[in-house]
Amino acid sequence: MARTIRAKILAITVVSLLFTCMVSLIYVWQIMNLSRMLFNAQRFEDLLNDILEVRRYEKNFLLYGDPKNLTESLVYLKDTRITIKTLAKDIDRVMGKGTYVKFANLLEKYSFIVDNSLKNKSITSEDAEKLRTYGKKLVDIANSLVSRKRKLIRKTFGHTAAVPFVFLGVFVIVATLMVQLVFQRLLKPLKVIEDTIERVGRGDFSPIPGEWSEEDEISRLIRAFNSMAHELQVNQEALIQSRKIAAIGTFTAGIAHELNNPLNNICLCADTLIEEYADELSPEVRELVFDIIQQAERAADIVKNLLDFSRTDRLVLSCLDLREVIQKTYRLVKNQIMLAGIRFEMDIPDDLPKVLGHFRSLQQIFLNLFLNAIQAIESHGSITVRAVEDSNEFIRVDVIDTGKGIKPEDLKHIFTPFYTTKGVGRGTGLGLSVTYSLVKKHGGHIEVESEIGRGSKFSVYLRRCKPELCENGERSVNSGSG
Ligand SMILES: Nc1ncnc2c1ncn2[C@@H]1O[C@H](COP(=O)(O)OP(=O)(O)O)[C@@H](O)[C@H]1O
Ligand SMILES: [Mg+2]
Repeated sequence: MARTIRAKILAITVVSLLFTCMVSLIYVWQIMNLSRMLFNAQRFEDLLNDILEVRRYEKNFLLYGDPKNLTESLVYLKDTRITIKTLAKDIDRVMGKGTYVKFANLLEKYSFIVDNSLKNKSITSEDAEKLRTYGKKLVDIANSLVSRKRKLIRKTFGHTAAVPFVFLGVFVIVATLMVQLVFQRLLKPLKVIEDTIERVGRGDFSPIPGEWSEEDEISRLIRAFNSMAHELQVNQEALIQSRKIAAIGTFTAGIAHELNNPLNNICLCADTLIEEYADELSPEVRELVFDIIQQAERAADIVKNLLDFSRTDRLVLSCLDLREVIQKTYRLVKNQIMLAGIRFEMDIPDDLPKVLGHFRSLQQIFLNLFLNAIQAIESHGSITVRAVEDSNEFIRVDVIDTGKGIKPEDLKHIFTPFYTTKGVGRGTGLGLSVTYSLVKKHGGHIEVESEIGRGSKFSVYLRRCKPELCENGERSVNSGSG
């Protein structure tokens, strides 16, 4: 059975073509048959006329006894004999087998009496009776021949006239099949695709339901469409995320800038207070001033994070050794890791190609991931940093922890700015959104997998350094404001 629509249409076309050829051949054959029958019918009529002539001379001879009539009769008898010989097969076909022999015998017997009478120049009454009987039989047979032949011709005409109707019937059936095929395999799925496109336009990216594993055009089209809808959904989500981050970025940048100066002033004033009036301050007051400095520094840290997050300027990227970035970042959190009794493992191949990055930003990315991992483990567990060549274009860095994992309902939101599950004072919800936007600025992307109670894996995809870039040293990348 033809699978593709193209093969089906081809098959139907070939069958129709063959059928048309067959019908045309049948038609031509019928018409040739008819013309042959008409010709033979003419000859049957000639035969009847000859026999009637013979009988006319027979009557004349029997009435007037003139032997000349017999001579004329013999001429017609000879013609008749030749004619029936050539029509032998046709006679048997029209009147049944054996008719020709019967006819020929009668003719012989008739000719014999005519011959005899011509020789004797007279005829006995017995022979005259026989001659009449044979003659009558001959006329009867010739008459039947003519009338049956006419009937046959009429029948064949009827059949020939029916051929176009049969052809029309088959044509209607084939056309119905074609229409059904077009409806079933083309128009119906097209309608479904049209509806789905409208649905996708309204923001519903769910795929066209059903099994579309066949190899025909429509299944292939629907598979391609479903994969496009999936890609659109992924891109749409990424776009929403980027927009959200961009919008919040603009908003927070303003606030952060405004907060930066007063915070600096608070720190400066408190520092001055401690330095200039150290002797005059009681220990309790000094304690309070230190508290002010500590809290102001914490606030400044948050502001710094906000500024990092909302920074829209270009990053100057260069070819960096990932091992060095990770090691230097690790040093920043080494104490915390040791205090929490966490094992830190680094699995980075020596020959790993360099990555395209901005050193401080990459440090920021991994610092945020390490801090989250430490907080998720709380005490005892491990953090593993593994780097592999993911493809020709990307290097993948996995940061794997054995912490408490992320609930599926949180997983959707962890990259959203200010989304935190940690208590007040413990988390700002900015770490991962800063990480996300920095990774984007590197032309990469970030993925996460997590299982409650078992841990999480953050995979950062960074662009691999191409040799020509390493030689030139630096390049700058602007990935927009996200
Ligand atoms: N390694 C991790 N293990 C478990 N949960 C994590 C991990 N990393 C991030 N999260 C979750 O993602 C949330 C957002 O993280 P982040 O943006 O860094 O903000 P914060 O750490 O300030 O809460 C966290 O509150 C936490 O619930
Ligand atoms: Mg964090």
